[in-house]
This record gives sequence, structure tokens and C-alpha cells, in this order.
Amino acid sequence: MERTKQRIVVIGGSSGIGLASAIRLRSTGAEVIATGRDLAKLQAATAGHGIETAAFDAGDRKALEQFFTGIHGFDHLVLALSGGHGAGTLADLDLADLRTGFEEKFWPQVETAQAAAPHLRPGGSITFITAISARIARPGIAGLGAINGAIEAMVGSLARELKPSRVNAVSPGVVDTPWWDRFPADFKAGYFREQQETLPVGRVGRADEVAHAVQFLVENGYVTGTVIECDGGLHLV
Ligand SMILES: NC(=O)c1ccc[n+]([C@@H]2O[C@H](COP(=O)([O-])OP(=O)(O)OC[C@H]3O[C@@H](n4cnc5c(N)ncnc54)[C@H](OP(=O)(O)O)[C@@H]3O)[C@@H](O)[C@H]2O)c1
Repeated sequence: MERTKQRIVVIGGSSGIGLASAIRLRSTGAEVIATGRDLAKLQAATAGHGIETAAFDAGDRKALEQFFTGIHGFDHLVLALSGGHGAGTLADLDLADLRTGFEEKFWPQVETAQAAAPHLRPGGSITFITAISARIARPGIAGLGAINGAIEAMVGSLARELKPSRVNAVSPGVVDTPWWDRFPADFKAGYFREQQETLPVGRVGRADEVAHAVQFLVENGYVTGTVIECDGGLHLV
């Protein structure tokens, strides 16, 4: 029987942008597998949505190979796993911290893409989630910009290498997800207030708004090698 349902893997699908993408893509009728490291968190987050789950560290090559071999082909890959380390001005930048930032986000995203690519069905796609830090100039974010810029720099070449599969990225600005819970509540509130006053759209983003951009890239077969800014205009200010 011919397959009609698209099969989509969302790496980092237990929280924030990845979870919103998994739920949104599932609501279109696609089969969705969401992954994360923490199985209990993954199952609690996806409960009731008809989303399959798989728990492993996307930095673990053996686990990646086992996972992609085990699912017997899929159509689209969304890479939403997060990092967080690597901020600071050059004078204060802790280079070990910046290396950790690359280990947390750049390497697992690239490693996953490499392990996944042979299993992508024709007509498939890869969507990286980067960050607008790659495209704006602000004291203190050069390291974060380097991590995300390194991923964005790969998008065009990978789109040519993996043709006819498509390769794109979504570059979010400040989005209200559990990622921000690592900071004290008053810092987060103050930072979000500042964004509200500065951003052209007058507010921080919602995870589902970034998921909407992901859905566009997954569904539109004529877009490849592209980075979409979904940042409320942060790149303008
Ligand atoms: N939120 C923002 O303001 C913002 C802004 C710009 C860019 N971004 C980018 O958007 C992406 C999603 O961010 P978010 O805010 O949605 O983050 P989040 O709420 O912290 O969610 C991160 C997800 O990634 C998973 N994860 C992390 N490391 C993993 C690993 N090694 N292997 C497998 N899964 C892993 C987490 O699950 P486990 O904990 O179970 O592993 C979780 O499901 C990230 O790349 C982030 O840098 C976010």
C-alpha cells in the first residue's frame, strides 16, 4: 500500500518550540515522533496528542544510529534541541563555557543531521532551529551568535548536497519557553518587558509562532537553503 502520511521526527520535542512544532505538525495529520533525553518529561509533554516518543541524547552517535535505523525511514527532521552556554563579552567570555555551548547545540544538531540524512525519504526536509543571535550585533552575544551562525552557514551547502531533500532553518528571537526558566523570575520578567518596549511587534514570541514557521518549511516543497527570521523584528532594532 502506498504511504500517504508524512512521518516527521522532532529532536528536542518535549519542550518549547520543539513541542509546539510536534503538536502543530501532528494536528495536520502527520505521524510525529518527538525526542528528548528525559522520557518522563517527553511522555508528560506529549500525552493526549498521539505523538510517538523516543528518549536519547542527540549527542550520542550510537543512539542516533539505532533510532534512525529503527524507524525505517521518515520524511522530515526538525532539530529543536537547545543549548544555552556561551554568553558574555569578549573580556569576560569563559571559553570553556562557549565550548560547552557548541557541545550542547552545534554538535548534536550536526551529528543528528548526519545520522538522519541517509534515512530521509525522497522529497523530505531538514529544518534547523538556530537563533537570531547569529544575525544581530549586541555586546555579550558573540559566542551565542557563533554557535547559531555556524549552523546557519551550513544550510545552503547542505541544501545543495542533499538535494532533492530540502534544508532550511528558522531563526527565532526571544520566545517564551521553559528555556527561560533557568534564570531568576525577576530577571526574566525584566528582560521580557524590555523586549516588549523595543520590538516592532511589541511582545516576545510564542512557541507556536515559531512552530508555524517550521510547518511552512516542512510543507513548502519549493523552499530550500533558506533561513527564516521569526523574531518579532528583533533583527531590525
Ligand atoms: N526560547 C527562546 O527564546 C529561543 C530564542 C532563540 C533560539 N532558540 C532556540 O530554539 C530551540 C528550542 O528552544 P526552546 O526555547 O524551545 O528550548 P527548551 O524549552 O529548553 O527545549 C529544549 C528541548 O531540547 C531537548 N534537548 C536538549 N538537549 C538535548 C539533547 N542533547 N538531546 C536530545 N534532546 C535534547 C530538551 O529535552 P530534554 O531536556 O529531555 O533533553 C527539550 O525537549 C533551541 O535551539 C534554542 O537555542 C530559542
